[in-house]
Amino acid sequence: MRATPTSQVALAIDGGTPVRETLLPYGRQSIEEDDIASVVEVLRSDWLTTGPKVSEFEEAFAERVGAKYAVAFSSGTAALHGAAFAARLKPGDEAITSPLTFAATANCVLYQGARPAFADICADTLNLDPGRLSERINSKTRAVLPIAYAGHPADLDAILKLADQHGVCVIEDACHALGAEYRGRRTGSIAHMSVFSFHPVKHVTTGEGGMVTTDRAEFAKSLRRFRNHGISSEARERHAAGQWHYEMVALGYNYRLPDFACALGISQLKKLDANLARRRAIAARYSAAFRQIPGVVVPAVRTDVNPAWHLYPIRLELAMLSADRAQIFRALRAENIGVNVHYIPVHLHPYYRAQLGCKPGDYPVAEDAYERLISLPMFHGMGERDVEDVIAAVGKVCLAYLK
Ligand SMILES: Cc1ncc(COP(=O)(O)O)c(C=O)c1O
Repeated sequence: MRATPTSQVALAIDGGTPVRETLLPYGRQSIEEDDIASVVEVLRSDWLTTGPKVSEFEEAFAERVGAKYAVAFSSGTAALHGAAFAARLKPGDEAITSPLTFAATANCVLYQGARPAFADICADTLNLDPGRLSERINSKTRAVLPIAYAGHPADLDAILKLADQHGVCVIEDACHALGAEYRGRRTGSIAHMSVFSFHPVKHVTTGEGGMVTTDRAEFAKSLRRFRNHGISSEARERHAAGQWHYEMVALGYNYRLPDFACALGISQLKKLDANLARRRAIAARYSAAFRQIPGVVVPAVRTDVNPAWHLYPIRLELAMLSADRAQIFRALRAENIGVNVHYIPVHLHPYYRAQLGCKPGDYPVAEDAYERLISLPMFHGMGERDVEDVIAAVGKVCLAYLK
């Protein structure tokens, strides 16, 4: 149903002038000349695939997040699969995750032949609720996969305590949270394994790419084998030792991240602090402005957390508005604001409904959030004008549909 705007300013969706002339995307990579030069240097070298840049990137990444080991993968999804393998998920096991995440968080459980289960989320942070988790955890549970939604870490101490009581592995989906802090500790150094993505909208990009960090040597060993066909040594080690002999000791995949991608990652990682500072400044400006706009709920930040702000998701106060999320979304797009929605709850995807028998109503907090969420543009390269355009457009649209 098409609701009628109540304000005098003509919305772009109704033929008015858009706030911006060109579309501002919700996320975008920043690639600079030094990033390009570092990739070109590797393209001119001997190693394109697993060479010296892989271990250099892994070491720099492990140090940055405060973990003992970091293992690079060809994507965040491959890294999640690796972590599910290292945690020894197998048919008959269950792993519990949040319904409000990207499907890959739950899919990695299925890749191992195990069964994903869900526990509802906290109404403030939209992260896995430890109380709900404690109700669902059982003798079949082998892993828990909390996600740091939008870059705000979940309550990991409570989750780890529960997991330890049940002998369960905690794999944090930290794909949104590179650079976040929880109780003074860095994301990537807290859970048993933490998984990152280097997709272009993330804080650090390698085009496609991922990483698992851990303090446990046995996990790191298992992850390294898994990404390389389950083979016990890497080609470069054999080359250096003048050996050809190798053995496949487990079923693995080719999930390797090439050397030139790692060179880009190394270069990007050096700029992480500047990237985080910019995102935090944008989030502070957004939240101050949106608190003044009726109908908008700003993302919650717990006092013991410093989020990484991969996303900036507002929630609409639908009772105050004469339009639903779909209408507000279309109106913002018409103003040339590249909004997005994160996420359709995983259990509502047709595949999950068919495979696991999930249905609407199973996770009401996640479903209520989903109906009201809109992700606004948030990336390091946004200028002040871009930020003010987003604020102006949200104000214009929400006021127009205010009851
Ligand atoms: C929460 C979450 N998990 C997993 C992934 C998968 O990462 P990738 O796209 O690198 O495979 C993403 C990225 O899109 C993500 O946002």
